[in-house]
Amino acid sequence: MLNKNVEKALVNQIEKEAYSSNLYLAMAVWAETNGFEGTAQWFYAQSEEERLHMLKFIRYVNERGGNSVIPAIAQPPSEYKDMKEVFAKTLEHEQYVSSLINDMVGVCVKEKDYTTQTWLQWFVNEQIEEEASVSGINDKLRLLGDHNLYMFDRDIMGMRGVVPASAE
Ligand code: FEO
Repeated sequence: MLNKNVEKALVNQIEKEAYSSNLYLAMAVWAETNGFEGTAQWFYAQSEEERLHMLKFIRYVNERGGNSVIPAIAQPPSEYKDMKEVFAKTLEHEQYVSSLINDMVGVCVKEKDYTTQTWLQWFVNEQIEEEASVSGINDKLRLLGDHNLYMFDRDIMGMRGVVPASAE
């Protein structure tokens, strides 16, 4: 049986992952409607990944005898100044998610729920990877400057796989 405080923290995270998925969908739309096909592909794939994160939390809570709640999701911003802002905001968001995962590990330690703490380790590692990958993209953008966005867009294309065929 899940400890109530652990359950509350995990259920809270369902909304955070759902929001992440929609935030990246909004960024995919921004990229696609501004002619950045590769960047759109990257964000569509990223959005799918966040949905999978959300599902992981839902399934784990249910499996451990808790109750997942499917939340309302706030509307993410759809206007962005430029590519740099989109990826700066992505990094900021991932850092925020990392802090949430860290807080959840803290709740598990406090409540002595070492099973969930171990389960959360996958997300700890995932966040290390995501932050590193988005930091790398921000570095690349800085190096290329504003005049090479076409090159940037080609470069990022396919980095995170492609949009599932069912969405085409
Ligand atoms: Fe599910 Fe990118 O954190």
